[in-house]
Amino acid sequence: MRCIADTAQTPHTGYPLFRVTEDIFLRNFHPSDIPKISEIVEEALHEHYEPSLYISLSREWPDGYLVDVDSAGKVQGFLLGVAQVPGEARILMFAVDAAWRRRGVGGSLMSTFFQRCRQRQLRRVTLEVRVGNATAIRFYTKFGFTITDLLRGYYTDGENGYQMARYL
Ligand code: ACO
Repeated sequence: MRCIADTAQTPHTGYPLFRVTEDIFLRNFHPSDIPKISEIVEEALHEHYEPSLYISLSREWPDGYLVDVDSAGKVQGFLLGVAQVPGEARILMFAVDAAWRRRGVGGSLMSTFFQRCRQRQLRRVTLEVRVGNATAIRFYTKFGFTITDLLRGYYTDGENGYQMARYL
């Protein structure tokens, strides 16, 4: 994936970002992203979290909390990762706005997340996904993840989960 390093600040947000493609830009999370991220989480993951959760998680590992924006600065998708186990990263939340799916936004977030993990000497990435989420499982498989465990009744509605992992 082509990544043009661009340390200039976007005129729309003032936050450092870099261009991934013509209309996909990437930067770290900022609290002003919370309304749009909440909207994406509700639509895509069917969950609702308090803003304070997004803020407290962003303090853990700011470089592991990535946001893709369009050329107008509108959030397209995000990936929230933490690094709580030595040598490992865990993806807690990952979703792309429905209008932007299948256009490389998720891939740009994942590729950049792997770079950030390597910079921090993290050698393994884990995540959990609903067994019925075939699209996400296909995506993760394309990005080198394999299923490592079946998590019975993992989700609050009783659905089973898969734990998936990949080495970097
Ligand atoms: N059908 C088949 N393959 C797919 C699909 C699909 N609908 N979507 C992605 N892929 C695969 C393809 O191989 C694709 O490459 P290609 O387009 O060249 O064929 C590859 O993944 C990369 O696709 P992207 O366009 O980069 O992915 P996208 O921006 O659509 O984001 C994501 C993928 C995040 C899974 C998106 O579908 C989404 O937001 N889904 C709803 C939320 C979700 O399920 N999140 C994961 C939950 S688990 C967790 O949060 C830890």
